Amino acid sequence: MEYIIEAAGLVKKYNGKTAVDAINFTVRQQECFGLLGPNGAGKTSTVKMIHCFFLPTAGRLSVLGMDVRTHSRAIKRQLGVVPQENNLDPDLGVLENLLVYAGFFGITRSSALNRAGELLEFFDLSGYERERVETLSGGMKRRLTIARALINSPNILILDEPTTGLDPQARHLVWQRLRHLKEQGVTILLTTHYMDEAAQWCDRLVIMDEGRILEEGKPQELVLKHVGKEVLEIGLGNEPAGVVLDHVSGMICGHLIIGDTLYLYSAGGQAVLQALQHFPGRFTHRLLRYATLEDVFLKLTGRGLTADGKTVAGYFPPGLEGAPASPGCLSKDLESKHVP
Ligand SMILES: Nc1ncnc2c1ncn2[C@@H]1O[C@H](COP(=O)(O)OP(=O)(O)OP(=O)(O)O)[C@@H](O)[C@H]1O
Ligand SMILES: [Mg+2]
Repeated sequence: MEYIIEAAGLVKKYNGKTAVDAINFTVRQQECFGLLGPNGAGKTSTVKMIHCFFLPTAGRLSVLGMDVRTHSRAIKRQLGVVPQENNLDPDLGVLENLLVYAGFFGITRSSALNRAGELLEFFDLSGYERERVETLSGGMKRRLTIARALINSPNILILDEPTTGLDPQARHLVWQRLRHLKEQGVTILLTTHYMDEAAQWCDRLVIMDEGRILEEGKPQELVLKHVGKEVLEIGLGNEPAGVVLDHVSGMICGHLIIGDTLYLYSAGGQAVLQALQHFPGRFTHRLLRYATLEDVFLKLTGRGLTADGKTVAGYFPPGLEGAPASPGCLSKDLESKHVP
């Protein structure tokens, strides 16, 4: 089986309102596949159809070669699901949460005890077996929810926003453990609105917005294809953007203006920076950095992944659109650095 999940023309409507709008994607065995998008993009609705919580309104969806409409029980047995909101049982202790969940899969008490012990150790929760869930920190609850999803040794682990709300240290710990699982061959399907998380962990991803898939590919390839490698951010202050753009015309492969910040996309950010060295006006800041998936999202939608609907003005020459890594936007490596 080449594809472990296949969606074709997949639609989800709630009371006639479309949340997932005829999307197509495939997930391969043993990859980490991401659904990246802002609030309301349709990520959770998509994964809920995959783990057979909701039936699709229309379209085809198969998981492990089985149709979700006809084989939901068999599919569920082979999935591990970490929902967006922790739904641990607050009345039960840490260990008991795992054991009760194991019961749903028909796992014997002694096997469940062994497996739960391994998982608690793997997720740094040994010693908390008898603690009530309420007393755990947010990061510990998240790790326990992931541990619970692994109790049945699933083929596919579905993680809906696994690290939202966690501090950087807690996020790091979760990802350390997920990397081990990936190395062990577990297929991971992940939703997130953290573009850094998506870029670092996903082998492939789709960028979603308003129920549609805008793009699909490997994170770094999408960045190169759409915005090139480097971005120079300019705090315009009172300088008109047009004057700055005239100054660097021919050196950039696209730009965006958000509020008073001008983003210049190019293959050689240093050269653009140099060209602006003796610009007669005053900028509030200049920052040379790598282009990211956030830039791709901005370009595709005119909005940030997390900001609420900032309006954006911008221009990318038609040649860059859809081109495989436009040579004009490729360059040698550089360190992201802040220019005073
Ligand atoms: N159970 C539901 N009933 C009615 N509408 C829903 C339901 N669940 C989601 N929606 C709507 O469907 C759309 C997509 O929501 P969904 O939760 O799938 O997005 P999401 O990408 O997971 O967003 P978030 O990042 O906020 O979790 C939204 O407009 C949402 O209001
Ligand atoms: Mg969601």
